Amino acid sequence: MAMRIPLIAGNWKMNTTLAEASVLVTEMREGLERIEGVEKVLCPPFLSLSLVRELLQGLSIKVGAQNMHFEEKGAYTGEISPLMLKELCDFVILGHSERREHFKETDQMVNEKVKAALAAGLTPILCVGERLEEREAGRAEEVVVRQGRAALQGIESPQRMVIAYEPVWAIGTGRAETGEGANATIGIIRDMMARLYSEGIAQGIRILYGGSVTAANVAEFIRQPEIDGALVGGASLKAEEFLSIVAQTVAIKK
Ligand code: PGA
Repeated sequence: MAMRIPLIAGNWKMNTTLAEASVLVTEMREGLERIEGVEKVLCPPFLSLSLVRELLQGLSIKVGAQNMHFEEKGAYTGEISPLMLKELCDFVILGHSERREHFKETDQMVNEKVKAALAAGLTPILCVGERLEEREAGRAEEVVVRQGRAALQGIESPQRMVIAYEPVWAIGTGRAETGEGANATIGIIRDMMARLYSEGIAQGIRILYGGSVTAANVAEFIRQPEIDGALVGGASLKAEEFLSIVAQTVAIKK
């Protein structure tokens, strides 16, 4: 089986002023740097990217953005382009359910963004996940596969990208999916990758779980064979808890 390096990404969402971002990074950078064998990614708000990057200079901890526009430049007031991000970070979260829900991002827009990120040399963290009513209607698999296929339209080399399975009902609710449940759905996403591309590509792609991951439940997910790490929201804003999540991941996956 392909060796996939585990990845833990912290999605800070619309939290932290510059001063708060500085405190948070300073609290966790040394501890994070000491933990090897896992890729660590911090995704602060756009305005803190430059500062966080500077605070992490020379360290192995990577920086990611939480969104971007798909055009390189132009008359898109208020937007941030892949070229701008390229100067500041390596990763970009795309298609997060909060973007789909509150900012009306469609599968087509997510597809444009994934293409643009790959073209710019950024690593997209593509989020997919079903809403509660879709789950209750027994449509979780269908929704996740539809979102995944749509986001990958026209993409020939998806090797670098990361996928995050985040059931919408589990995000910020304290009601996480079970380890087995997340493992099963992530297995379905991997099968989809094998069908769209090849078994080799499917086995090489990292797929994360996200949705109410904490230091108390992360082990349940990381123990699962299909799950390669986590996209952590709320718990990534607490230095000690985030460090514990990263440390537990290495201890289990090594
Ligand atoms: P949460 O958020 O960990 O706060 O549930 C996860 C996410 O939205 O990426």
